[in-house]
Amino acid sequence: MSEEDDWPATRLVSAGRRREWTAGIVNPPVWRASTILFEDVADLRAAVKTPNDRLYYGRRGTPTQWSLAEALTELEPGAAGTMLYPSGVAAIVGALQAVLKPGDELLMVDSAYDPTRAFCTHVLAPLGITARYYDPLIGSGIADVVSEKTRAIFLESPGSLTMEVQDIPAIVAVARERGIVTLIDNTWATPVLFPAMAHGIDFSILSCTKYIGGHSDLMMGSVTASAAHWDRLRRTAQLHGQCVGPDDAWLTSRGLRTLGARLKAHGENGLTVAHWLKEQPEIARVLHPALPDCPGHAYWKRDFKGASGLFSFVFNGGDDAARTRFIDALTHFGIGFSWGGYESLALPIEPVSIRTATSWQSEGPLVRLHIGLEDPADLIRDLASALEHFRQTAD
Ligand SMILES: Cc1ncc(COP(=O)(O)O)c(C=O)c1O
Repeated sequence: MSEEDDWPATRLVSAGRRREWTAGIVNPPVWRASTILFEDVADLRAAVKTPNDRLYYGRRGTPTQWSLAEALTELEPGAAGTMLYPSGVAAIVGALQAVLKPGDELLMVDSAYDPTRAFCTHVLAPLGITARYYDPLIGSGIADVVSEKTRAIFLESPGSLTMEVQDIPAIVAVARERGIVTLIDNTWATPVLFPAMAHGIDFSILSCTKYIGGHSDLMMGSVTASAAHWDRLRRTAQLHGQCVGPDDAWLTSRGLRTLGARLKAHGENGLTVAHWLKEQPEIARVLHPALPDCPGHAYWKRDFKGASGLFSFVFNGGDDAARTRFIDALTHFGIGFSWGGYESLALPIEPVSIRTATSWQSEGPLVRLHIGLEDPADLIRDLASALEHFRQTAD
């Protein structure tokens, strides 16, 4: 295996930058368009026959969107193509719509991002598509859960909030044997840390809003599909009128080029902070995939090339008021939802009410941290002083 196979640093820089799309400009420029003008009627008729291979109509994109989509495809060895969506949730929805039909059953991981679950409840169920939830640590036990109606298995690894790492190869093996489609929300790892298609997954979904954009200033989603599913994915997205603006695609491409360097720094800083937290008496458990306390840690070690900067921890006792004092006392951590930017964030989280297939027990309240590109020594000082506020008894 070459260094390039191990960490796609070179591909991140060169992917999608076809000269016919960029005319030599380094970052593929913004092409804005709705109408495309044809040479003559014969040219128009030829375009109708091959709309995906040329400028055709703004909704089908321009070299700005094509370049980003191709770059994301190149990052997933074994992939046939990528569709772009205006958000990560729209990408999850687009992938599920490409696969499921009334009467089908979907196996959904119990640690899925909450809006993914909400789509199953409020859109899929009324269409006659049933979602059944499974334990994220089920592994090859998924064989006992699938039924005749199971059309797809949805994974998210590590899971949202509680970070369980799944035994992806075991689940993929069962799915392949039974002809079941697999989809993964790969936002935490990105294809840099986990090339999902190379592990046999059929659809790799990203909220590019997070690490791909990397600067907390855009919304974007993507779905990358294997050859068997690519045409259907593209057709479904087109039928739903999905498209993204060229400015956002351009900004996302710009972020993508530094993804490798940023992920390394997020990973190193995150681990430094996670190791420090683990030693603090106020903390019961640090749910970081690279630490043994994290459920599924062994699978992370076996399958992933590294860690990004998002993880959670559980306080050793205490209540919501103490947790609130802790978060409010932080000065380098913003309080906000969308992680993956260059800045650190802290968020109070409540996994208990979200689960249905498994129950969540914990020693105290939980906090999710995103570790940004600041000096980790500053972040640790900040956390240490906020812990003093956690210890204070309420007046
Ligand atoms: C794991 C995961 N998947 C998907 C999404 C949705 O992405 P977006 O906010 O771009 O819709 C999020 C957003 O927080 C997320 O954390």
